[in-house]
Amino acid sequence: MEPTTFILFGATGDLAKRKIYPALYNLFVDGKLPQAFSLIGLGRREWSDESFQANVEQSLRQFSRREAKDAGSLKDFLRVFRYSVLDIGRKDDYLKLLKLTESREDELRIPQNRLFYLSVGPEYFETIAANIQDSGLGSTNGWKRLVIEKPFGHDLQSARDLNRKLSKAFAEEEIFRIDHYLGKPMVQRLESLQQANPVIQALWTNRYIANVQITANESVGVEERAGYYDHVGAVRDMFQNHMLQLMMMAAIHLPHDSTSEEVRFKKKKVMESLEVLQKEDVIASVIRGQYQEGTIQGKPVVGYASEPGIAPDSMNDTFIAAKLQIDNSYWRGVPFYIRTGKRMKDKSTRIVVEFKDPLKQVSTNNDDHIAPNLLVIDIGPNEGITLQLNAKDPGHKGGFKPSHIDLHASEQNSPEAYENLIYDALTGNSTFFAHWDEVELSWQWVQPILDAFEENLVPLHSYAAGTYGPAESDALLANDGFHWWFDS
Ligand code: BG6
Repeated sequence: MEPTTFILFGATGDLAKRKIYPALYNLFVDGKLPQAFSLIGLGRREWSDESFQANVEQSLRQFSRREAKDAGSLKDFLRVFRYSVLDIGRKDDYLKLLKLTESREDELRIPQNRLFYLSVGPEYFETIAANIQDSGLGSTNGWKRLVIEKPFGHDLQSARDLNRKLSKAFAEEEIFRIDHYLGKPMVQRLESLQQANPVIQALWTNRYIANVQITANESVGVEERAGYYDHVGAVRDMFQNHMLQLMMMAAIHLPHDSTSEEVRFKKKKVMESLEVLQKEDVIASVIRGQYQEGTIQGKPVVGYASEPGIAPDSMNDTFIAAKLQIDNSYWRGVPFYIRTGKRMKDKSTRIVVEFKDPLKQVSTNNDDHIAPNLLVIDIGPNEGITLQLNAKDPGHKGGFKPSHIDLHASEQNSPEAYENLIYDALTGNSTFFAHWDEVELSWQWVQPILDAFEENLVPLHSYAAGTYGPAESDALLANDGFHWWFDS
């Protein structure tokens, strides 16, 4: 792997602590960091290199999936961490950073391969990118990359503005937009699930599939993020990015070992084939909801409007369910149902593929209940795949019962999304990052929903915390003769 200087904006922040340092540490333990690697953390706090390293160490103790037990290797890991105070708007601080970066590169005798990681609020993206450019940090004799976190814009227009500004300093190939759902191991395995299983590949069309259900339920509420969440809602926080990415990944067909360009090209094609919603039609295929008080795992919780920092008359969506239609030869006629919500009964992210049931029509015995075949891809918290087939039920003459082929690993300690994504960014593999085309098309598709919500063209339904969302979400599927699987 090529020598790299990892320049981290927001080094004292929460995301760095919870995700980035633990990910880097686990990559280090697995021998997946470059041999010549150095990290420069940036923040407003007046930290020394030592206090920075102590803070990183503390974060590993709290958040790493693997214990940082071996003092020797921990020391080796932390040795390359340096800290520099930086005020995002101060040009001088970037010149100081340039000096430090160059002196580290000289010390290690490495080329100027610089990975700029922006673990800061989106309001700073533009200023940082411009200052990287103006200070000369971006003029390297090696490569440069920009890794940014969501949200990428607040709507179609702001996303376009942001992209235009970033592209003054970085080319599209240099921008790595993180959508951490694309880093989840099961999402990354979707591709190989088809490639390694001709049976699945052959069935992946409207000839055999009745519908696809994509769920990301969370039992947490708004937590301490009222200021952010009340402005974005489930539609911007989860749907426009994570959920549409899952949909694209489930809908693409990748028969061969595909390049990053091919994967992203196919995803773009899926987005382009989505049937466009007009603002007035949103009501027919999108359900929005907001949680009321209820009980989660035996504990009473307050309703959204009573959460600290939320206005009592807030009309924000904490739940969204939608029916999407992909108008291409593979998927025409197969509804994709997508839902995500806060304060749901449990935390689970999964894709359920329900197969058509031709037996339904041919069975002469009405007592024979034959459940549809299902392929269930559990993305989290447990990872695995289940195939539901039907087998003769020995206890019931002539009857069938569903039986399962279960491919869940017994040990669930696979790399976290951030490990996969940081590794890919270090190696320059952009397959599992959101390309601008996907981001733009996603905002474009979602924009009528944002407008319809804004203009209250869609009712805001209530649901009790600890349930699976408003009844209207069930009706969305029932209208087509389906139901959400595994709500119990
Ligand atoms: C984030 C959202 O992107 O994803 C959060 O901002 C949400 O609101 C989180 O809780 C869910 O991620 P995961 O990996 O826990 O499913």
